[in-house]
Amino acid sequence: MNHPSSKSQNQEIDRRRTFGIISHPDAGKTTLTEKMLLFGGAIQMAGSVKARKASRHATSDWMAIERERGISVTSSVMKFDYRNFEINLLDTPGHQDFSEDTYRVLTAVDSAVMVIDSVKGVEAQTRKLMAVCRMRNTPILTFVNKLDREGMPPLDILGDIEETLQIECAPLSWPIGMGKRFKGTYNIHRRELTLFTPGRERLPDDSVTIRDLGDPILDEILGRQADELREDVALLEGAANPFDLQDFLKGSQTPVFFGSAVNNFGVRELLDTFVEIAPGPLPRQATTRTVFPGEEPFSGFVFKIQANMDPAHRDRLAFLRVCSGRFQKGMRVRHHRIDKDILIANPIMFMAQDRTAVEEAWPGDIIGIHNHGTIKIGDTFSEKEPLSFTGIPNFAPEHFRRVQLKSPLKSKQLRKGLTQLVEEGAVQLFRPLMGSDLILGAVGILQFDVTMARLKAEYGVDAVYEHVDYVASRWVKCDDPKRLSAFERANQAHLALDAEGNLTFLADGEWRIEFVAEQWPEVVFTKTREHR
Ligand code: G4P
Repeated sequence: MNHPSSKSQNQEIDRRRTFGIISHPDAGKTTLTEKMLLFGGAIQMAGSVKARKASRHATSDWMAIERERGISVTSSVMKFDYRNFEINLLDTPGHQDFSEDTYRVLTAVDSAVMVIDSVKGVEAQTRKLMAVCRMRNTPILTFVNKLDREGMPPLDILGDIEETLQIECAPLSWPIGMGKRFKGTYNIHRRELTLFTPGRERLPDDSVTIRDLGDPILDEILGRQADELREDVALLEGAANPFDLQDFLKGSQTPVFFGSAVNNFGVRELLDTFVEIAPGPLPRQATTRTVFPGEEPFSGFVFKIQANMDPAHRDRLAFLRVCSGRFQKGMRVRHHRIDKDILIANPIMFMAQDRTAVEEAWPGDIIGIHNHGTIKIGDTFSEKEPLSFTGIPNFAPEHFRRVQLKSPLKSKQLRKGLTQLVEEGAVQLFRPLMGSDLILGAVGILQFDVTMARLKAEYGVDAVYEHVDYVASRWVKCDDPKRLSAFERANQAHLALDAEGNLTFLADGEWRIEFVAEQWPEVVFTKTREHR
């Protein structure tokens, strides 16, 4: 029986917003994050997040990789308040060499903000991240950044987003000029003009309410650009899609804002609209039923495991998203996969740069649990009722390496290390049906460097990582056992078992997958696979 939720639980749920920022590297995700944290009072000084991005102190080898490349290998969680809302911002690593972590973080959010560089338009990584958002129809708000630079005409940017990402755009603000002529934005809904002064952060009195675009005050303020704005707005009224909340919530329409994150311009408009229209904690699907956030019993799932976050402790931290009920410190919960009750002793939360002890947490919140090897990605914790949340997938790797030990004496350590790293979701492991190779698979190539460094530092394993000819993979299934055996016989050289024993097709090109799939129509090829 699920108990009805209390009034305070509903209030807590209503004021939670859990989201991630998706963008291609350099579009301005870090800058936007920082401005949001500044508004939320979570950090005091501009530059804090950037500084952290550049100079993480490292005492273990794989953190040194992170430092060397000046990027964040692992993603983290930042909690901040804005107005009366508690916002959980889940950071997705922004570098080109992103990993499965980047994808998986998006399975734990209720909405996303997409940052587009106005000079470059939609870029490769945004496309990939958008495909992941689409799996759960995550609502997306768009922020077109860097309007202080000479970029693509705004209408072309909208066209690019609609065409490349197959999502309808509904501009809620409109830029007035760009680059040197960038004067500000006009909020179409509120009929408000916000003026831009380069090199300075916005002040509250920079906004002017314009009831009628015909008002001569507009000419006074904008000069010749007043008519350009009038024409643009007239054009938009005829051509642009009006904002539709339901379409946004279904993930089929994205409201679009324009601004300049580095100048803190347009960020407040984005945040104000975000807290108003972005959904609070959404119901989540478990294998047996849908779980609603307002249910009284606590439940949550692990979407990420991070090792050695605190070099002094060399601990592993499991990130759990609360899905229903109230989490309280010292709570005993059921760990369903291993069928045991466990005590969550010292859970932590993440405030901008700090970790703090958790007393209680509500749906939408993310808590960190110390993990001594019993927690895997995708694990569900709840009170009594056996639940297993779905939608926390593995993604088909695109990069592969064969592991060869330098010393055969270390094979036990290698097995142990790989088991651990696979459970953490750091890398995937495949054993080809023919031969005795161990093939590592990753979504981002940097995952191999991390795996290598960690195997050496934590398990004392020295190994060589050889190139193999695979570049794509799919999990395969077939309901007809006879056809499956025939398929296996015919394609042995390309088949492997993953760490959980699932049959996987490893290919030297997408073309081969298409070719084989055509020959075997009853075999299903999938790019994602649920954790068990
Ligand atoms: P990322 O996390 O998406 O990778 O991007 P990040 O915020 O680090 O921004 C990438 C670069 O773009 C930075 O420049 C940043 O200052 C710049 N940037 C962000 N927003 C704007 C904007 O609105 N206008 C302009 N013109 N630039 C912007 P950088 O040279 O790499 O770093 P920095 O030395 O400026 O900090």
